[in-house]
Amino acid sequence: MCYKVLALDRRRQRNPGRRLATFALLIGASFLLAACADTLPQSSLNPAGEPAGKVDSLFKLVFWLAVGVFVLVEGALVYALVRFRRRRGQDENPVQVHGNTRLELIWTIIPAVLLLGVAVPTVATIFDLARRPAGDVLDIEVTAHQWWWEVRYPDLGVVTANEIHVPTGRPVFLELRSKDVLHSFWVPRLAGKQDIVPRRTNTMYFEAAEPGLYPGQCAEFCGLSHANMRFKVVAESEAEFDRWAEDQSADAAPPAEGTPAAQRIQECFACHTIRGVGQPTEGVVLIGPDLTHFGSRRTFAGSIFDNTPGALRRWLRNPPRMKIGSRMSDYKLTEEQIESLVAYLRSLR
Ligand code: CUA
Repeated sequence: MCYKVLALDRRRQRNPGRRLATFALLIGASFLLAACADTLPQSSLNPAGEPAGKVDSLFKLVFWLAVGVFVLVEGALVYALVRFRRRRGQDENPVQVHGNTRLELIWTIIPAVLLLGVAVPTVATIFDLARRPAGDVLDIEVTAHQWWWEVRYPDLGVVTANEIHVPTGRPVFLELRSKDVLHSFWVPRLAGKQDIVPRRTNTMYFEAAEPGLYPGQCAEFCGLSHANMRFKVVAESEAEFDRWAEDQSADAAPPAEGTPAAQRIQECFACHTIRGVGQPTEGVVLIGPDLTHFGSRRTFAGSIFDNTPGALRRWLRNPPRMKIGSRMSDYKLTEEQIESLVAYLRSLR
């Protein structure tokens, strides 16, 4: 009797734990399943151009091979568990086997063939995506900084930041360099990741088939604000791209004399440049982004804030508070100076 009550009690005690476990499992499963959507910015299952398609085909090949291996191996395991389980009344131990040459050859050769089947197309694709494609190629030089992206178009005389404009249907060849530490260039829908290694130039190409805004981000831990090192690829028609490039290659006008912006702007040139106003852009390794056409950009500070007067005001009041680790320190600007600088920066179109 006493035992029965104890057992009941224990079962009751166990139940809340089990309910909690079920609840946790459901929550976990829903998070896991949420990752299955193929329309999210980080999803590479929705390739938007030919090079991204090549990576996607490779992924699918490896995925289905792995599914095949999983089903075969787990199937054999479950079969052995059921077929050779200890039956009622069975006392003697199963026959002990030491080595089986034929079996060992089979399970060495099959994985080797499978790995070769994965390695050959993988290595071929890696080299394919790092070469300069044939045809009318647009060259872009990307320099990764803690924590923003410098973007140069050597043939067009354009320097910008955190926003890579490209014409649709034209292959883009990237030269990737780092100003400081390891970074990794990643636009999930347009191409696979490419590491950026200090004192090395890595290359890759991509192509956007359709116009659109493609989010990108740094994919290698690079310090405090690694998560805040994003950028956007803006794919547009050839005509729109040409117009943008022409606008971007023009110099800027200085702030109106006597304004608070004009009084403080020289301090900005310690790190930034404004072509036609501040330090030259050509051949200069920048510390902060080129601001010549700052007002034309959608976002700023590693593409984490929308380029609005409000966000810009908050940024100028105290950059490191807005973005952890920011190399731009608090310049103790007055509200009047901030207002004037915001107006000037937004006029740089
Ligand atoms: Cu740059 Cu992470």
